Amino acid sequence: MNRLRDKVILITGGAGSIGSAIAKAVVREGGRAIATDLAGRPGIDHALDVTSEADWQHVIGDIGKDGRLDGLINAAGIAPLGTVEGTDYALWRKVMAINLDGTFLGCKHGMGLIKRNGGSIVNISSVSGLVGGHNLAAYNASKGGVRLLTKSVALHGARQKPQVRCNSVHPTFIEGPMTDALFAEVGNPAETKARMERQIPLQRFGRPAEVADLCVYLLSDESAFVTGAEFVIDGGLTAA
Ligand SMILES: NC(=O)c1ccc[n+]([C@@H]2O[C@H](COP(=O)([O-])OP(=O)(O)OC[C@H]3O[C@@H](n4cnc5c(N)ncnc54)[C@H](O)[C@@H]3O)[C@@H](O)[C@H]2O)c1
Repeated sequence: MNRLRDKVILITGGAGSIGSAIAKAVVREGGRAIATDLAGRPGIDHALDVTSEADWQHVIGDIGKDGRLDGLINAAGIAPLGTVEGTDYALWRKVMAINLDGTFLGCKHGMGLIKRNGGSIVNISSVSGLVGGHNLAAYNASKGGVRLLTKSVALHGARQKPQVRCNSVHPTFIEGPMTDALFAEVGNPAETKARMERQIPLQRFGRPAEVADLCVYLLSDESAFVTGAEFVIDGGLTAA
């Protein structure tokens, strides 16, 4: 229960299903979770719109005044459906701003504080950052960007003294509002969900707590030799 003892971890999208599960797991493991999300979202310690560089500077500055930062989880994200032809440019820009620019700004501004003592950054990508979907043009592009940004951050972090590690996590469908909203956009949501579950070799969607447990490993010293790597958590979906 003490795998993250005394570690301070900043989480974006901390009011969401995966972000809040990670915050809970950090506390369970003896760490301190600083949950951030858009202003007005429940249970957060700081309002932080990940697309706002001023918000990042303010929150990181605030934490750094009298404290340390050992880890960062970039979990904020949106997942609208849309083919390349059906996605208007404004929506494309919005997905890029939140999913990719937000992760870039987190790595950029988090690095400065984390490298004082060394630590770990975890970027939540998706299986959609590894394989394409006909109606996920913007989401695929943003999450694929997060995957390779992670490797560049890892190589930079490895040159710091002390070192900062960075890895990406690639879940498939996880139970929660994001998945519910995706299925609400298509006809017969219950039938579509059941069909998607059957396509997963382990025959079910993942749970937020399962993604959180993987993040605990990546934040902890157990993964001290792991950086620049991609962790697929998909019930076997992309193994075939
Ligand atoms: N749920 C899934 O099936 C699934 C699968 C693969 C990857 N992911 C990824 O996991 C991450 C978390 O997803 P989730 O399932 O918890 O979704 P969620 O919708 O429950 O949570 C996402 C959170 O991000 C926040 N957010 C949105 N825009 C923001 C902004 N500009 N600044 C700060 N916060 C913002 C939302 O307020 C929300 O609390 C996302 O990056 C998502 O793409 C989710």
